[in-house]
Amino acid sequence: MRSRLEWRRAVVTAIETPAEDVRAVTFTVEGLRSGFDPGSHTNIKVIIRGEPALRTYTIIPSAPGTLKIAVKLHPNSRGGSAFVWQLQPGDETEMTEPENRFELSWRASHYLLIAGGIGITPIYGMAQALARRGKSVDLLYAARSRGHMPFLDELENLSGVRLRTLLQDEGQVLDLKAEFEALPPEGEVYICGPHGLLEAARTLWEESGRPMSRLRFEVFGDSGRYIEQPFEVQVAGTGHRVRVRADESMLDALMDAGVDMVYDCRRGECGLCAVSVVEASAAIDHRDVFFSTEERHSAAKMCACVSRVCGGTVVIDTGYRREEAA
Ligand code: FES
Repeated sequence: MRSRLEWRRAVVTAIETPAEDVRAVTFTVEGLRSGFDPGSHTNIKVIIRGEPALRTYTIIPSAPGTLKIAVKLHPNSRGGSAFVWQLQPGDETEMTEPENRFELSWRASHYLLIAGGIGITPIYGMAQALARRGKSVDLLYAARSRGHMPFLDELENLSGVRLRTLLQDEGQVLDLKAEFEALPPEGEVYICGPHGLLEAARTLWEESGRPMSRLRFEVFGDSGRYIEQPFEVQVAGTGHRVRVRADESMLDALMDAGVDMVYDCRRGECGLCAVSVVEASAAIDHRDVFFSTEERHSAAKMCACVSRVCGGTVVIDTGYRREEAA
């Protein structure tokens, strides 16, 4: 359960290809409020295998009355990106008023923005907003090649932002430790990228002794180590035995089966959907950034919105989640 979403009718009005594997779609949205902070996201109703579902995407700066998203077509997609990629001008869906869980503080003496691949979507808006306010900004943008870097031209022409690109195809690597060491004491870091990048950043930041409030991050989807497989989840004490398809989350499957779940972000960040793992017959593919490395290794809990089991069966207890939410 989460706060009620405000759905709006949305019509596709423009489609662009800002990188070879990324499609940007602009929607004209009825009754939309204006003035969204950088880092905000919207929910969009999608159809996956004929069934309605919900996906969440960061919004990119766009004209008043419109919402723009950029979506990478990923081979491991559970269907959301495939839906967005087949949209054509004039197609209709519904979207929500944007919300923000990846907010800029505006208080820092210096900002280090780090984006991995499609993780540029919130960072792009942040760079624009900080530059407009004359803030000190470094932006590190890592991707396979220049062709895999959406909005690179726009960022290169953004005055006031020191942009550095790191191209994996050319063997360039991101040295997070050195970047953190070079950061002024009052500096803040904002990162959006795959799970492994955020894990490394969090560990190095903790080791640096800097306040955790000055490291903010957002993970993007499809960050698991394993290909999605169907699995079964049994809810201890309730008799529920639920099949989770490869193209749906455990959270969605449980709620569809009538299991009362608590959730909010659906991105593995808030921890509200966490459940205890009683036993699992296969490895757990943790895809959250809520639990510590030690907690994930213990495999005692998992975030139902993003984490999965690599086939087989997992027995969960939702009592832990209820206690935490109370
Ligand atoms: S709903 Fe936030 S971590 Fe799952």
